[in-house]
Amino acid sequence: MIFKNVNELSAEEFSQLEGVYKQTADSPSLAIKKKYFTYYIENHSSLFFVAINERKVLGYICGMKASLEHPTLFQTYPYLKLFQDELISYPAHLHINVAPGNQGMGVGRKLMDKFVQALSQGNVLGVHIVTVVNAANNKFYQKSGFTFEKTHNFADKQLLFMGKSLNTDT
Ligand SMILES: CC(C)(COP(=O)(O)OP(=O)(O)OC[C@H]1O[C@@H](n2cnc3c(N)ncnc32)[C@H](O)[C@@H]1OP(=O)(O)O)[C@@H](O)C(=O)NCCC(=O)NCCS
Repeated sequence: MIFKNVNELSAEEFSQLEGVYKQTADSPSLAIKKKYFTYYIENHSSLFFVAINERKVLGYICGMKASLEHPTLFQTYPYLKLFQDELISYPAHLHINVAPGNQGMGVGRKLMDKFVQALSQGNVLGVHIVTVVNAANNKFYQKSGFTFEKTHNFADKQLLFMGKSLNTDT
């Protein structure tokens, strides 16, 4: 398996990447695609990594190192206001998706390692994700070192903020 930056993909690979996004997306809407996918290609491509094996795109990870620099962070992710204080220790965030046929084979772990390694080189204090309590994939984040947890009710959901501290030189 190799990693490519999103900017290094051939047209065929990019088309497969979009296929993985579509397969794992909650909604087909263009607004949601912009929010979780296109925004990161257009603004944070250096942190957008794609896992490829024998010309097949298996999954991707994307994100940004300083969430508070997102120009519309709290409009785009309104629930993050509840976890505003935690953004100091865990400023980076990410989105990860592995194609359904390739899950459970270590691809997510390797993508996470690649992303965290890139963040660590930039002296980032920590990274977070927000999920819901008892979601199946929370185990994946726990096993990836997201040991900080804080919950908040939002709308009709019990949200779970999970944070992972990163080693920095400072
Ligand atoms: C969540 C996801 C990124 C994990 O990637 P993956 O390639 O399937 O995970 P890996 O095979 O690298 O698993 C790494 C570890 O996490 C565990 N794990 C992964 N998914 C799990 C799940 N749903 N339930 C329990 N454990 C899980 C694995 O068992 C493994 O543990 P081990 O090292 O003790 O064997 C992937 O399954 C996925 O894209 N799911 C659908 C979309 C999604 O939920 N994205 C995240 C949005 S918040």
